[in-house]
Amino acid sequence: MKAIAILTSGGDAPGMNAAIRAVTRSALNRDIAVFGVREGWQGLIDDRMTRLNARDVGGIIQIGGTFLGSARSKEFREESGRSKALRNLATRGIDALVVIGGNGSQTGSAALHGLGFPVVGVASTIDNDLFGTDVTIGCDTAINVTLEAIDNLRTTGSSHTRAFLVETMGRNCGYLAMMAGLAGGAEVISTPELEVSAFEIAERLRAAYDRGKTHAIVVIAEGVKENVARILAHFEKDRDMVGFELRATVLGHVVRGAPPTAFDRLLATRLGVAALTSLAEGVSGVLVGEQRGEITRTPLAEIAGRTKPISTSLIDLARVLAQ
Ligand code: F6P
Repeated sequence: MKAIAILTSGGDAPGMNAAIRAVTRSALNRDIAVFGVREGWQGLIDDRMTRLNARDVGGIIQIGGTFLGSARSKEFREESGRSKALRNLATRGIDALVVIGGNGSQTGSAALHGLGFPVVGVASTIDNDLFGTDVTIGCDTAINVTLEAIDNLRTTGSSHTRAFLVETMGRNCGYLAMMAGLAGGAEVISTPELEVSAFEIAERLRAAYDRGKTHAIVVIAEGVKENVARILAHFEKDRDMVGFELRATVLGHVVRGAPPTAFDRLLATRLGVAALTSLAEGVSGVLVGEQRGEITRTPLAEIAGRTKPISTSLIDLARVLAQ
């Protein structure tokens, strides 16, 4: 193997830079040239890539986002887009590709690998909804930023006897909402896997108010049917039904742009090196992840197009604590 390319794709995640650094430096250690592709699959189709040396990836381990840029490419979903990408890789003499990203990105990796090109995926998304890994790069940072917001909202809520609806990212998976909600002692957590109706939220808030609480936090994952707007509309009919004054905060992309925690930097470093080791051992078509504390390789074909739900033990925990 003489040269590899790296790209980051889909929603950015804190720790992606640390992963790029790890892949690059471990390739250079083995005298393998590295090309950094700009803005994900689209950059591969448009042939936007440059050589990376050790210094190009210096001073980035602590920075959120991805210095290579990221995008969601419609063109790569077409066969014509994938053929263009393959032509560009061949013209530049690139032997393999490392894709750092989440669900959609690794589905792309599986498609390219299916055409005979060696690809290794690195599990990275704040959503932690990828099969083949217990944890993804970026998720720990996103949980911590969400938790900080919850703690702050609880403090101001307490001063004003208010309840806060807090909406987190997480598209189809409630992991981020669940973990931050549990760690933040939320009164209610509503996720696609354990959705709580507006009616029930009102009942639980009223009960908390009647028990003498001065604040209440309701964490709502973006993917639920009864989202913040619908809950507010429900309460609009009867403003006194919950006792508390009610406010809503949508955290959105704020949690995606934070500097990575130590956990995410270390995970990204370990997975980045593992991706290169896998390629050097001649193993491609896999996602490198971490399961039960060990670095693992899972066939991309097994994880493509699937969303990992939250574990039932977390759902049980939320049920027990919702009192
Ligand atoms: O990367 C995952 C994610 O942050 C989801 O939680 C969210 O639904 C989505 O990306 C938002 O995507 P975009 O940044 O394209 O609006």
